[in-house]
Amino acid sequence: MAAVTADQTTQGTAGTADEAEAGRLAAFDATVAADDRIEPRDWMPDAYRASLIRQMAQHAHSEIIGMQPEANWISRAPSLRRKAILMAKVQDEAGHGLYLYSAAETLGTSREELLDKLHAGRQRYSSIFNYPTLTWADVGAIGWLVDGAAITNQVPLCRCSYGPYARAMVRICKEESFHQRQGYELLLALSRGTPAQHEMAQDAVNRWWWPSLMMFGPPDDASAHSAQSMAWRIKRHSNDELRRRFVDICVPQAQALGLTLPDPDIRWNEELGQHDYGEIDWTEFQEVLKGNGPCNEQRLTQRRTAHENGAWVREAAAAYADKHAARAGTAGTAAQPVEATA
Ligand SMILES: [Fe+2]
Ligand SMILES: [Fe+2]
Repeated sequence: MAAVTADQTTQGTAGTADEAEAGRLAAFDATVAADDRIEPRDWMPDAYRASLIRQMAQHAHSEIIGMQPEANWISRAPSLRRKAILMAKVQDEAGHGLYLYSAAETLGTSREELLDKLHAGRQRYSSIFNYPTLTWADVGAIGWLVDGAAITNQVPLCRCSYGPYARAMVRICKEESFHQRQGYELLLALSRGTPAQHEMAQDAVNRWWWPSLMMFGPPDDASAHSAQSMAWRIKRHSNDELRRRFVDICVPQAQALGLTLPDPDIRWNEELGQHDYGEIDWTEFQEVLKGNGPCNEQRLTQRRTAHENGAWVREAAAAYADKHAARAGTAGTAAQPVEATA
């Protein structure tokens, strides 16, 4: 809904600029408090806009960088069926990036600008994608744990206060749930396979478990953006709350898979009605964040190269759009062939 109309903002000539500003802010706050959506044309505080651009850009970047570790296995998938599934999944991630860049553009930024910032290292993507995919089982562990953690994080975003982001998340979450299942099913097949396959599945889970827990971000008391994001109803639950929820989901699933989670401290907490888990190594998280993870440089270099190699596609698309614009402009006014003007 519209938080404030033009009439409301210009009405009452006696009102000062400060009063008008206060009125717009009150209308924005009321929309958020009523759990209605803020839409692109609505007035919004600059900090809200900036915070959304930061979050949505980081999310979009994560989707497209996340294609790399898995694409690494497309040519080596063990069967045609597995290859087709993995290709569909990686394509989905490209699509998620596109929805999110488009949603971010409604805030007055452009995809080009966001990509430039990613390539310059001025905007981040999820740290999880700075880890390597060493075996085929990693494709399963990513689907089960990384896409699983993403779903836990993102389902509440379907109710986020910014309309275009919330709506993009509905479709993304549906697709993420397919990704999570394909990973789970892949690991189940390996776990029930030969001893070597079972071991490969366990090794992948051992390596991906802790980085997946880190995907929920720093602990609540160290999270820079959390409190304000919760007040704006961009975020609905704290990092630790979502992390614990994720652990609760994974424990029975790991049992069903016949695999163990690499944390001896996981145990049921009767009082909380949830699982406790061990200490996370935040030093590792900070190091990966600073660019010192195993694949940071490789991921960014590959992204920049892909962008440069795709320049001709963007140029061709722009030329094609210009041609059509010219055709639309001359339609009905001249009998000249459109190609001549393109
Ligand atoms: Fe995705
Ligand atoms: Fe996914």
